[in-house]
Formats: sequence, C-alpha cells, structure tokens
Amino acid sequence: MRCKPLYSLIGGPFRPRHHILGSDIAGRVEAVGRNATRFRPGQDVFADILSHMGGFAESVCVPETALAPMPAGMTYEEAAALPQAGAIALQGIQDKGRVEPGQKVLINGAGGGSGMYAIQLAKLNGAEVTGVDNAEKLEFMRSLGADHVIDYTRDDFTRNGRTYDLILDLAAHRPAFACKGSLMPGGRYLYVGGSVATLLQVLLIGPVIGRAEGQKIRLLAARQGARHLAPIVELCQAGKIATVIDRRYRLDEVPEALRYLGEGHAKGKVIVIVK
Ligand SMILES: NC(=O)c1ccc[n+]([C@@H]2O[C@H](COP(=O)([O-])OP(=O)(O)OC[C@H]3O[C@@H](n4cnc5c(N)ncnc54)[C@H](OP(=O)(O)O)[C@@H]3O)[C@@H](O)[C@H]2O)c1
Repeated sequence: MRCKPLYSLIGGPFRPRHHILGSDIAGRVEAVGRNATRFRPGQDVFADILSHMGGFAESVCVPETALAPMPAGMTYEEAAALPQAGAIALQGIQDKGRVEPGQKVLINGAGGGSGMYAIQLAKLNGAEVTGVDNAEKLEFMRSLGADHVIDYTRDDFTRNGRTYDLILDLAAHRPAFACKGSLMPGGRYLYVGGSVATLLQVLLIGPVIGRAEGQKIRLLAARQGARHLAPIVELCQAGKIATVIDRRYRLDEVPEALRYLGEGHAKGKVIVIVK
C-alpha cells in the first residue's frame, strides 16, 4: 500500500496488481467449480492466498489447492490468524531454525503476528527466548513466555555483546555483519522481512561471511499453504499454543484495521470479521 519495503513493487510496479488485498482467510465453501474434487459446499476451510489476494471481501474465489479443511475445534478467527504467521514461525523455529533444548533464540519483531507464535514455539522446543519489539509490547512478549525482552527503540541487540544460536529476524533493518556478530559459532540467522538493504546483504554476502565459524546467514522464504501447518495446528488444538487476537474489525473498517497495525499498536493478530 505504501510501497515499503521497495520489494513490494513485485505486487505491481505502477499500481497494485490485486485491487483487493488480504491473504489469510477462513470461511465456508459456497460453491465449487466443475473440476473441483477436494471440497464441497458447506465445508469450513482456511488458507493463505498471498499469490491470489482478495481476502478483504465477502467472497473469494481461489483454486482448491490453496485451501485446507479448517481444523476441528478452531474458530474462524483462530483459523484466519494462523496461515502466514504460523508458517513463518514453524519454519523459522523448527524446520529451518532447528531449535534444540537449551539453545538461545532471539526473535526480532516478536510482538507481532508471527512473533506471537514463534515465541511460544521456541519455548515449547526448550529454548531460552529473547523477544525484541517496541516498549508497548514488552509485557505482551513476556506473557507469551519470552525470558528476556528488548525495546528496539532504546537498545540495539547487535550491540549488547550477547550471542544467540538462532536469530529469527521478522523486522530486519540491521546490517548482516552486525547480525553475524550476534551469532554464536555454528549459529543461524534467518531474514524473514525488513529492509531491502539487509535483504541484499543476506543474499549476496550471507552465504560467505559466517562460513569460517559454521554460521548460516540466510533468507527464510516460507512455504505457503495451510497444508504445511499440521504441526502447529496440532499444538493449537491441544491448547499448547495460543492465538492472541488484539482487535476485531468489520469489513468496512479494514482501512482502520490496517492503520492500527501500521501504527505499531497491535499485539498479536488483528482480525476482520465478515458477517
Ligand atoms: N519470508 C517470507 O516468506 C515472508 C512471508 C510473508 C511475510 N513475511 C514478512 O514477515 C514479517 C513478519 O510478519 P508479521 O506478520 O509478524 O508482522 P507484524 O505483525 O507487523 O509484526 C512485526 C513486528 O516487528 C516490529 N518492528 C518493526 N520495526 C522493528 C525493528 N526495527 N526492530 C524490532 N521490531 C520491529 C513491529 O513493531 P512496530 O509496531 O513498532 O512497527 C511489529 O510488532 C513481515 O516483515 C513480512 O513482510 C515474510
């Protein structure tokens, strides 16, 4: 919407390719195409439709491969909160982050949607977790289980002399070299989102700068699709991971919802409810 970061131009260089935004959805199938075999009208489904968009609407039309059956026992709100943020947390902490008990994990931008799941997942994996976000979100991160919290508006985690086994960077704005300095030998740094400058550094020099110390500095390109979410869905269903919904908005309040998110107040997820 604001063309920030610059790589959002991928969504259309002169104007957005998708005029209706919104990528995480949960709802009920109303109709299926002639060749659809996996779903039938009346079934509850959820999805991350980032490549199609159009989620801020009463109805959305997507290929059935984008959809997964909604997990039993979940509300539409919980299911809509999970797809993108859950995939980033699962892949960042477990699949690519490979967190093991006793390891030290720092999650930068931990007070938002993905961080909410990532903190809880890292704790379940037995890690000592440091959450970084703005002052308003420090208590929130503690309530999710973070052992230590840092206010990024006051302290720079790359300058406090501490090192980590994993840095999951959801708001990457610091130079790759600075982040490398905060890794233990053999540690991993995963860029999830943030500035183009950091992204380019991670892509261009990331693979070489940590090699001597066995460090891995990489981009996490999260695999999309609700079907990849089984492990985190099970943890949510078992009550081991909570979905925190900060605010709920009506469909006609979407601009307000996005403004609230953009101003940095949201702790966890903001949900749009379509009646
Ligand atoms: N790699 C992939 O495959 C992939 C896929 C989808 C999305 N993404 C990216 O994933 C990222 C995380 O998504 P999300 O849903 O968790 O976002 P979110 O809910 O907006 O959370 C991001 C958090 O980071 C905080 N933050 C902003 N600047 C910061 C800084 N300099 N240092 C520390 N924290 C800072 C924000 O706080 P403030 O309120 O203070 O700004 C916010 O609490 C986004 O950057 C998104 O673009 C990546």
